[in-house]
Amino acid sequence: MLVQLNPGFVLDLRRAPSIDRACQQVYGDLASEAVVSLQGLAGVLGAHEWRRTGIVIPALDARIHPHYGVFAPTRTDYLDLVARIPLPPARTAFDVGTGTGVLAAILLSRGIPRVVATDIEDRAVTCARDNLDRLGYAERATVIRHDLFPAGRADLVVCNPPWMPGTATSALDAGVFDRGNAMLTGFLRQLPDHLTPHGEGWLLLSDLPELLGLRDPDLLRSTATAAGLVIRGRCAAASATRSTIRRRDPLAAIRSRETISLWTFGCPAGGRT
Ligand SMILES: C[S@@+](CC[C@H](N)C(=O)[O-])C[C@H]1O[C@@H](n2cnc3c(N)ncnc32)[C@H](O)[C@@H]1O
Repeated sequence: MLVQLNPGFVLDLRRAPSIDRACQQVYGDLASEAVVSLQGLAGVLGAHEWRRTGIVIPALDARIHPHYGVFAPTRTDYLDLVARIPLPPARTAFDVGTGTGVLAAILLSRGIPRVVATDIEDRAVTCARDNLDRLGYAERATVIRHDLFPAGRADLVVCNPPWMPGTATSALDAGVFDRGNAMLTGFLRQLPDHLTPHGEGWLLLSDLPELLGLRDPDLLRSTATAAGLVIRGRCAAASATRSTIRRRDPLAAIRSRETISLWTFGCPAGGRT
């Protein structure tokens, strides 16, 4: 079903609510008539409400406001891991694939003086800047559009790559699907070149793809070892989605076993220069 939009995103329906602000945030200005699928419009309006009200993040004791098409931190499992794990002494941190900026915000709230965050999607960069500004971290955070790492080295590098091997077909999918595990393996291969001598890398990863037979269970270890990284530790949490799995979900049995891990990496003998 298609909905006709008039210039300025005006609907030709009596008593219809105003949708111009929600549509403008996603489509930009509309000077002529256009049509949009009803399903697409519902998505735009739903995303607008999320952006307006935000999502409560207990680890931050604050709200994060996701923008349309940006991975929303609706599950607390991985955020709690980042909020609880002991921090190494760190003056600078990188957040690779920042999305809404939520992990950068947690690191800043834990006292890391300076964070540089990257994302390959323009929408995510705008969204992360918006959230970090709202939280009062504008002076201590820089967000740039970049593939993987920013230039230079940091004492701590955190990354929550898209967890499912597969091809993204939309900006939002880019937060879920990692084609050929490119971000995961790229992160591990390049990490030694972006850590300070005693720096630490944190990688968040779900084991759902391994449980589904979609990722080689040895990929992480073999890629890290070949890159010259040492695995210093791993803490795992049961997936926060366990309680919401529907019994009729054909993957329910597998999903109920999903865990999220925070892997910590370093370089042997004080790092690579
Ligand atoms: C699973 S989301 C994580 C977002 C956020 N860090 C969080 O934890 O909620 C992965 C993010 O990585 C970004 N991304 C994907 N490929 C990337 C790349 N090559 N370089 C930088 N960011 C990338 C996506 O756009 C998405 O925002």
